[in-house]
Amino acid sequence: MKTVLILNGPNLNLLGQREPATYGLQTLDDVRQLCEHSCDQHQLRADFRQSNHEGVLIDWIHEAGAAQAAGQVAGVILNAGAYTHTSIAIADAIKGAQLRVIELHISNVHARESFRHQSYISAVAAGVMFGFGTQGYVLAIAAMAHLTQCDQRI
Ligand code: DQA
Repeated sequence: MKTVLILNGPNLNLLGQREPATYGLQTLDDVRQLCEHSCDQHQLRADFRQSNHEGVLIDWIHEAGAAQAAGQVAGVILNAGAYTHTSIAIADAIKGAQLRVIELHISNVHARESFRHQSYISAVAAGVMFGFGTQGYVLAIAAMAHLTQCDQRI
């Protein structure tokens, strides 16, 4: 059974209390449970993490790239939070690690401030999911399962 890493960046530990009109009322722990349940349904294992630190996210991306090359990891669902809009280092890490990433945002970033319209991650992502609230994690897991099944058919 392959693992899907679900990596959450800065301030996502505040889900449930942070700008609920934008991000909803579910906590990060609720989202973790949602992801675990959804991965179970796709015969995948969820490894759900959060960090407020760019370097920690980069270390996890490198780790995931090695595990993906070893056939243990299907890929990463990455909500990099505000680092999405600023971090060339995270984009370089994804590219360098040759990692399959689905970029995810809870909110519709394109309906928000213009600085959220720029993503360094989209160019190195397999796909992007945004605007579906925390349900987007479930949809992204289904997309990851689909990509993994496509690999197995090749
Ligand atoms: C976010 C959108 C980002 O612009 C923001 O900085 C976040 C959360 C989202 O999930 O909608 O922290 O990634």
